[in-house]
Amino acid sequence: MANIVIVGTQWGDEGKGKIVDLLAEWTDMIVRFQGGNNAGHTMVVNGEQFISHLIPSGILHKDKICLIGNGVVVDPKVLIEEIENLKRRGVYVGPQNLLISEIAHIIMPYHRSIDHGREKMRGNRKLGTTGRGIGPCYEDKVARRGIRFIDLVDPDVFREKLYSILEEKDLYLKDFLHCEGLDGESILEEYLAYGEKLKPHITNVSITVNKAIREKKNILFEGAQGTHLDIDHGTYPFVTSSNTVAGNVCCGSGIGPTYIDGIIGIVKAYTTRVGRGPFPTELFDDIGDTIQQRGAEFGATTGRKRRCGWLDAVMLKNASQINGLTGLAITKLDVLTGIDTLKICTAYRYKNSKITDFPNSLKVLQDCEPIYETLPGWSEEIRFVKQLEDLPENTKRYLRRIEEFVEIPIQIVSVGPQRNETIIVKNPLD
Ligand code: GDP
Ligand code: IMO
Ligand code: MG
Repeated sequence: MANIVIVGTQWGDEGKGKIVDLLAEWTDMIVRFQGGNNAGHTMVVNGEQFISHLIPSGILHKDKICLIGNGVVVDPKVLIEEIENLKRRGVYVGPQNLLISEIAHIIMPYHRSIDHGREKMRGNRKLGTTGRGIGPCYEDKVARRGIRFIDLVDPDVFREKLYSILEEKDLYLKDFLHCEGLDGESILEEYLAYGEKLKPHITNVSITVNKAIREKKNILFEGAQGTHLDIDHGTYPFVTSSNTVAGNVCCGSGIGPTYIDGIIGIVKAYTTRVGRGPFPTELFDDIGDTIQQRGAEFGATTGRKRRCGWLDAVMLKNASQINGLTGLAITKLDVLTGIDTLKICTAYRYKNSKITDFPNSLKVLQDCEPIYETLPGWSEEIRFVKQLEDLPENTKRYLRRIEEFVEIPIQIVSVGPQRNETIIVKNPLD
């Protein structure tokens, strides 16, 4: 029995979806515990690509149960579309294998409008959000005026909650953000229909997961975004609105910390970032362009070009501590093939001093110059390699340096987007 957490160590898009889909084979249950459809998790099976925004990345395995925990903010329209799309492609999705927490908060049309309206108003000071209403929905949750699935399935309660907040939202949208106002009755009609559709999936996720724990099932907890997008520990305010780190597994799914057996940090072999915010190792040259193109670094949610740069090991060390990582999964290593010389940032130069800890001050981080270690690259094709020892010597050297610096063992190495393009050094679920 093992309950394993998968978290991103950088700024998201590390390849969490691929690793969750891969490891799902050895688990019984896959649980999303935070974020919403700002996430875009890609799975590639037999050459076919699936992108999941809300449904856990274990869904392609027919006999596994996927759960959306209370820590997730759910746009019911997007969830229904996602279910329908999967069904159209022959994937079974029903109340037997997809369950949603009755206390998960719902993204309402005004959350999306506020997200867009605020970004527009900020102009060139915008955050670069995904525009999915994530921040405004979490705000209402914390302000104790959110709407949850348990409300949505009770028309009287839903009507009352909606109307208790509508006037305020309408005024804010029209008078402050200069956006279109809201039509209560059409929202009511639209959302009650979503509630009816999703009703069979809605349950008490905490009870379901705890029962599975007692039955000694294997559970995978799937994080979204990445450690440095965490609302507390990330590069605030250029972050998302939830705790993305492993500590939030418990709050976001309703289990105790004593039940977690391992935490795998997903590390892209280089660094990317979508949206705005500081990025010390960002590349603005041909190598950056090569990585962006070879890695097909476009957002899986918004299609935006991802900013690319060298691997930042200072960030990784920070992520290792905040999450309490027990293992690493290095992804997209194949993208670095053919680059003559590789660089890993192992410290920053700030003014005239050397910094070895990731700074919390954005002002400091913005002025940090990366201090690099240089390693020789490799030119051999590595996508078909199945054993660590069969990798080129310089590839092994690159991996060894990461492991040595972060002081956490590498358990998985991903050398291509497909499920089978993976080297499993040590299966965390064994
Ligand atoms: P996530 O948000 O962490 O799940 O990551 P995304 O799905 O947004 O982005 C990762 C992208 O890299 C997807 O297009 C994956 O199919 C792809 N990918 C994952 N692992 C590998 C790998 O080892 N090599 C290559 N070339 N692509 C990969
Ligand atoms: P996955 O799970 C990469 C970024 C946005 C923006 C910031 C805030 O696929 O790794 P938000 O809409 O959350 O308020 O946007 O966070 N962001 C992501 N970047 N991967 C993600 O998810 C992201 N989810 C949010 O680009 O900079
Ligand atoms: Mg993604």
